[in-house]
Amino acid sequence: MEIIVSKNYDELSKKAASFVIDLIKEKPDSVLGLATGGTPEGMYAELVKAYEAGKISFKDVRTYNLDEYIGLDGNHEQSYRHFMNKQLFDHVDIDKNNTYVPNGKAEDLEAECENYEKILKDLSYADIQILGIGTNGHIGFNEPAEELILPTHVEPLVEATIEANSRYFDSKDEVPKEAISMGIGSILKAKHIILLASGPSKNEIMKYFNNDKISTNIPASLIKLHPNVTIIMDEEAAK
Ligand code: PGA
Repeated sequence: MEIIVSKNYDELSKKAASFVIDLIKEKPDSVLGLATGGTPEGMYAELVKAYEAGKISFKDVRTYNLDEYIGLDGNHEQSYRHFMNKQLFDHVDIDKNNTYVPNGKAEDLEAECENYEKILKDLSYADIQILGIGTNGHIGFNEPAEELILPTHVEPLVEATIEANSRYFDSKDEVPKEAISMGIGSILKAKHIILLASGPSKNEIMKYFNNDKISTNIPASLIKLHPNVTIIMDEEAAK
């Protein structure tokens, strides 16, 4: 596991983007596993800049996202499909048919999860999987628990996550209570995992990367089992 400590958020974003840019240059039809949340926003802005500067094209890139809120359709301002369009897809030459986000409005959620897992498999999983981390150690919406589910599944959100994500909604009541999330098993199938952590709120949880333990109560710790992981955090998260 490689740990990179960047001076600040701007440097973290540039560093994270550089991994993706190098990958796309080397393999134009890369598969990217993408994350939402505040942390990767700067990285997406850097990727848009690289595209605008003619350094990379997303023409043949395929992407899939970690998760989506149940009950929100892709046009909802807080849906993760909307987030991805706004942060990246609308600004680059990607074919949106090659971008996958679970359908939070699917009538049959079980079938949607199975179908999503099949899509990941057909894409042979991500060349790079980008992850954020919750203050409680969740990745995707895999919340701390005694048992974790390996494939894509429906996950109830815990109070800490609802509270943390309420900043994007008018009120806490509007935050969906469930999501479709890739499971830990699907995440670990990526060829390279890059986890990003920024700011003092991540300080406490990042301490867990200083030891040689894993725990399902800190789902992110399971990435220690993966042979190719890069953690990029800024000084505030690393303190
Ligand atoms: P954040 O969310 O990037 O907005 O901090 C991370 C997460 O909850 O996974």
